[in-house]
Amino acid sequence: MHIVCPAVSLMDHQFERMSVTPDSIGNRPSNLGFGLGLRTQHYAEVLEAKPAVDWFEIISENYMIPGGQPLAILDRVRADYPMVMHGVSLSIGSTDPLDTDYLRDLKTLADRVEPRWISDHLCWTGVNGLNLHDLLPLPYTEEAVAHVAGRIRQVQDFLGRRIAIENVSSYVTFAQYAMTEWEFVSAIAEAADCWLLFDVNNIYVSGFNHDYDAQAFIEGVPRDRVVQIHLAGHSHNGTHIVDTHDAPVVDDVWALYAAACRHFGPVSTMIERDDNIPPLQDLLAELDQARSIAASVAGEGAVT
Ligand SMILES: [Fe+2]
Repeated sequence: MHIVCPAVSLMDHQFERMSVTPDSIGNRPSNLGFGLGLRTQHYAEVLEAKPAVDWFEIISENYMIPGGQPLAILDRVRADYPMVMHGVSLSIGSTDPLDTDYLRDLKTLADRVEPRWISDHLCWTGVNGLNLHDLLPLPYTEEAVAHVAGRIRQVQDFLGRRIAIENVSSYVTFAQYAMTEWEFVSAIAEAADCWLLFDVNNIYVSGFNHDYDAQAFIEGVPRDRVVQIHLAGHSHNGTHIVDTHDAPVVDDVWALYAAACRHFGPVSTMIERDDNIPPLQDLLAELDQARSIAASVAGEGAVT
């Protein structure tokens, strides 16, 4: 399927530049180990049992509020575990101006959480003030690389830190493109000097939907920029796959995770479950599978 994207009519937007120097942007974060997304269904068990999870990822927008129970719980969990913040509303690919109110709230939360890093998606979620509530793909063009990289740099200046950008799953391609998705992701990472959040399930989903080689994606991404890996389940509908995050990780995605471990070496890894949330023990078992695969690959020796 081919569509024409309104976001390709790109132009610079005015954005207040904050007083941040490159020196305030640190080196690549260390490997945190194996984490989970913090979900409300598991709050009580996490607080009481302190499960064997190395770190938690929070959805930033769930805690960008002035007070209340979620923030109180967040503080308690944070006291016991390292955290990273993962957002869904940055809309870094849009042609709308960056939302400075959102960025201020994000920075306020980051000051509270002190996350190891902050991430969002390589996508756009709306245009002309309209929020489409979806993570929409971008055209793989030089113009889009320059546009997105410039906006990532603005965000990084505002936050005073590098951010990580995640490859999204997609269900459409564009009539015009100049490079592969992995070339697009890599070009933006280099131009923006940002980190990458590598979603293994997303490359499996998009690789199936668009008939590309997921292994080529893994090998095409600069390994020294990958700070985190997402693993998730999906819904296979025969002709296409939908990135639903409502089921266990499938064997093919585990195999791709092994390939990612071989190429990237040890990287902070987490199970990303957003719907049909199972008992915490189920996710811990999946996390153990990730640990086992990473350890097995490490035992092989050489990184490819
Ligand atoms: Fe993800």
